[in-house]
Formats: sequence, C-alpha cells, structure tokens
Amino acid sequence: MDEKLKNFYELFERRKSVREFQDRVIEPDVLERLLMTLRRAQSAANRQPWRFIVIEKKDRAELNEALTKEGFRGAPVIIAACAEPKEAWIRKPDKVNYAWVDVTIAVTEMICAATAEGLGTCWIASLEPARVKEILRIPDGIEIVALIAIGWPKEELKKEEKARKPLEEIIRYGKWQG
Ligand SMILES: Cc1cc2nc3c(=O)[nH]c(=O)nc-3n(C[C@H](O)[C@H](O)[C@H](O)COP(=O)(O)O)c2cc1C
Repeated sequence: MDEKLKNFYELFERRKSVREFQDRVIEPDVLERLLMTLRRAQSAANRQPWRFIVIEKKDRAELNEALTKEGFRGAPVIIAACAEPKEAWIRKPDKVNYAWVDVTIAVTEMICAATAEGLGTCWIASLEPARVKEILRIPDGIEIVALIAIGWPKEELKKEEKARKPLEEIIRYGKWQG
C-alpha cells in the first residue's frame, strides 16, 4: 500500500477511469482486501442486496467479446456487480427500491480501496444486459448494475485536475431556490 495514500483526499484526486492495463495479475491478498470492502459496505437497512461475480482473464473468452473497449479485455479481473432487488429496502412513500444505490455504494468503496492499492478501475455501464447475464448465467430477477474492470494501470495514477462542473453550479445552500 502506498503510504502517501493514507491522505484520504489525495485518493480522490488520483482516482480516474483506467482503460489500459498491464499484463500483471492481482495478487490474491490484494483481491481479498478489495472483496472485503464489498462485504463491509453500508446499505439501506443493512439489507446488502448485492451479489458480485469475480471473473479472471483466463475465464473471460466469452465476456471479453461482449466488451465495448479493447483495453478492458486486458484487465486481470472484472467484477460483475449485481443487484438483488427482492432483498432491498424500499422507501414506502414513493416505493423507490434501493438495490442499485446500495450496489453502487459498495462498488464505490471498493474502487477507493483499489485506488489506494495503486490499482486502476473503470466502471462499465455500456453493455448489453441480456447478453452479459446469459454469458455469466445470472438468473432472472437479478439485475446487472455494472462491470468493474480492475488491474494495474499502464500509466501510474497521479494527482490530476478533473474536468468537472464548478462548485457554484452544483451546490445550493438552504434551498433549491427562493
Ligand atoms: C455509472 C458510470 C458508468 C460508466 N460507464 C462507462 C462505460 O461504459 N465505459 C467507459 O469507458 N467508461 C465508463 N464510465 C467512466 C466515466 O466515463 C468516467 O467516470 C467519467 O468520464 C469521469 O472520468 P474519471 O472517472 O476519469 O474521473 C462510467 C462511469 C460511471 C460512474
């Protein structure tokens, strides 16, 4: 673990979407630490409405063909993040099911941990859900939220300015308006 990344805020400055990976495996102890972050993540009413499939490169012939970007095929690990909506907490007044929110939180925490390990990640939402579900034998009723490519980045992660909306545009104080 990079000692400098004990500086929590620097972690967010370093994280970026990585789409080109070194041909290097993720050691089992590192992967185990990442998987533990998925287990420990917070979720609405602690329902943990998630399942994750870890797919190593050697088992990915079929899935790799379904990926939109060539670089993702080289990732040593891809994790399919799935939602189990039947297990999720539902907000009564508007019946919002929190499964996708919970899965997203767990994945985000894992992405932060991966960044701290020096690993690169990319969230892949652009996929054909039916095709990916078939390849991974995901049963009906389970939703695929994302594929997360993880691996050692071709270019080292470093502190970088990001193209983002200005704070004044996205933050309001007190009320939305008036
Ligand atoms: C929900 C979500 C879906 C995304 N889907 C894709 C994707 O399908 N393919 C891809 O190359 N990048 C994808 N990304 C990465 C975004 O393009 C990226 O986060 C954004 O451009 C900001 O860049 P940064 O992550 O390097 O800060 C996704 C990111 C998020 C959060």
